[in-house]
Amino acid sequence: MSDETDIDYGPLENLIGSWKGDKGVDVAPDPEGSENNPYYENLTFTGIGDVTNAESQVLSVVYYRQIVFRKSDDQAFHDQTGYWMWDPKTKTVMHSLVIPRAVCVLAGGQYIGATNTEGRVIIEVEAGVDDEDWKIIQSPFMQENARTTGFRQKIEVGNGKLSYSETTMVDIYGNVFEHTDENELNLSKG
Ligand code: HEM
Repeated sequence: MSDETDIDYGPLENLIGSWKGDKGVDVAPDPEGSENNPYYENLTFTGIGDVTNAESQVLSVVYYRQIVFRKSDDQAFHDQTGYWMWDPKTKTVMHSLVIPRAVCVLAGGQYIGATNTEGRVIIEVEAGVDDEDWKIIQSPFMQENARTTGFRQKIEVGNGKLSYSETTMVDIYGNVFEHTDENELNLSKG
């Protein structure tokens, strides 16, 4: 692993830094139907260099930590960590994430230079339990009782702003639930 400072992080470059946002909206499954949680969060991305796989694939790697707080009681109610990876040869973006419910996701997508009207980079990845390439792994309990079947995420980042929206499909309480999260953040430390 190299930690040189001249690493090309491609579209992930804009993520690096510490972000804060208080416009979060979470829609999560509940036995009665759904629960709606307004939230704020701290999200920190750190460029950690590159790795070489099988002496041929070079990935630039950004580590992140996300901690999400419920507005109603200021309690941390979601904690997530993982890596974003960029493969410049195939223009593939990968996002590996873990959450402390015994669920892991490896999502992927192509980045071909898309930007929004404000010039922010658009990064999109997805995964599915039955996908050939980008998969979800979960404990026997979760497979049985709260099975994540799909995950997709869109991030728009640049000029000190980051917004994301993500949908996690969860098979729970006899239905497939569309668990969604979105927020808008500002760069607090570059
Ligand atoms: C900002 C991001 C997220 C927030 C704020 C959030 C919040 C929540 C909340 C409040 C619940 C309801 C259960 C409870 O009250 O503890 C829940 C359930 C769940 N979440 Fe998330 N979540 C987020 C992202 C994710 C992601 C990325 C995944 C997986 C890829 C995920 C998977 C699940 C699963 C499987 C459940 C069902 C467990 C249950 O309700 O008993 N969540 N989440």
